Amino acid sequence: MTQPKKLFIKTYGCQMNVYDSERMAEALGGQGYVETATPDDADMILLNTCHIREKAAEKVYSELGRYKGLKEAKPDLKIGVAGCVAQAEGREIMRRQPLVDLVVGPQSYHRLPELTAKAGQGAKMLDTDFPEEDKFEHLSARPKAARGPTAFLTVQEGCDKFCAFCVVPYTRGAEVSRPADRVLTEARDLVERGVREITLLGQNVNAYHGHPRGLAGLIRELARIDGLARIRFTTSHPNDMDEELIAAHGDCDKLMPYLHLPVQAGSDRILKRMNRQHTAAQYLALIERLRAVRPDLHLSGDFIVGFPEETEEDFRATLDLIGAVRYGSAFSFKYSPRPGTPAAERAQVPEAEKDDRLQRLQALLGQQQKALQDAMVGREVGVLFEKTGRMPGQMVGKSDHLHAVHVACEGVRPGDLRQVRIVDSGPNSLKGVLA
Ligand code: SAH
Ligand code: SF4
Ligand code: F3S
Repeated sequence: MTQPKKLFIKTYGCQMNVYDSERMAEALGGQGYVETATPDDADMILLNTCHIREKAAEKVYSELGRYKGLKEAKPDLKIGVAGCVAQAEGREIMRRQPLVDLVVGPQSYHRLPELTAKAGQGAKMLDTDFPEEDKFEHLSARPKAARGPTAFLTVQEGCDKFCAFCVVPYTRGAEVSRPADRVLTEARDLVERGVREITLLGQNVNAYHGHPRGLAGLIRELARIDGLARIRFTTSHPNDMDEELIAAHGDCDKLMPYLHLPVQAGSDRILKRMNRQHTAAQYLALIERLRAVRPDLHLSGDFIVGFPEETEEDFRATLDLIGAVRYGSAFSFKYSPRPGTPAAERAQVPEAEKDDRLQRLQALLGQQQKALQDAMVGREVGVLFEKTGRMPGQMVGKSDHLHAVHVACEGVRPGDLRQVRIVDSGPNSLKGVLA
């Protein structure tokens, strides 16, 4: 019997890359590859990369540099770069790092087995097309192995919004939605294999139009699958939150009370310069409508500080907006100029100013996050258990509001969904007892 070949995949960036990496591993499984946890014994290394900020993109080159020794020791080791850096800098990667055999953009993963076979014959391969066909349809079917209680499922890709700071419309292409019946088939298959919570993914997931009633229509059909207990979705754009999706937050029990709804900034002047196509007041009004149907909804957001021309006054408007919303969690970043995007050409805010604003912003967000987490103490919440904790006899799971919850308990297994009474709130997680 031939030895299986070993595949090491390292994933950077967003959840969509996590999902893509799983699917690539499955597709290469058909060619006899099994996954390994370290690059050291790999026959193929695949970096699934992110181009969103300069730091993320630079990591790829330093990581590739580390593989030099491995490639010298094992000349037929194949090294591939996938994902958004591959799309944006394909030829440049080949030029800067000659040990790369294969570059494949995010819309061409279904061609991976073919590219890998050719790259194995000594040729260098590059595929960064945006083909018409659906890459997911052409990836081999998932093997029927059991899996953990939570899963990602990509339903939408790409972006037509062109925010002035963002590379995604260039690296992932135009908005496309997968037809609802294919999504439902994949979801049923996941549930048969033990999944109880599905997070629907898309760069603009609520722009989904693979169902006549949009994302809300898809969610309502998914909610009918027996055994599927929880549905989440990410990432949403405020302008694509339609009436039906707002209503679903009020009356669809399986849709969890947590919504990631990035706003980026609180100053209308900056929102306009960012090309976000909405004002701060419109965003706040939207949140009011969501909270009217689901009062305990936890909101999460993304923020950029130090966007070109952002003044102290603009920045304070962001703090004010955060004060008005009260976020359950948030991600915040210093603006990073990206080649080819309009904002990169504008007058930049000094680095020290960006650092200062980021600290102030994160202090406020940290306080809010902790306050909302502390407010869970004494409440009873649903927890989907995922794994054993660090302490003996302890299990860890996620609450409906996506808080990590530690519970000392006997006889609870990963995949069990139980009511838990919260008794304590730590720095990053809650402690509870079975109710
Ligand atoms: N589609 C999502 C976000 C995708 S990128 C949305 O529209 O909300 C994830 C986050 O990275 C963005 O929300 C933004 O906050 C941040 N980001 C994107 N480009 C950036 C840049 N050039 N510099 C700093 N942060 C950036
Ligand atoms: Fe980027 Fe804006 Fe599209 Fe989000 S909506 S992916 S931030 S261009
Ligand atoms: Fe990064 Fe591409 Fe996701 S740039 S954030 S991996 S869509």
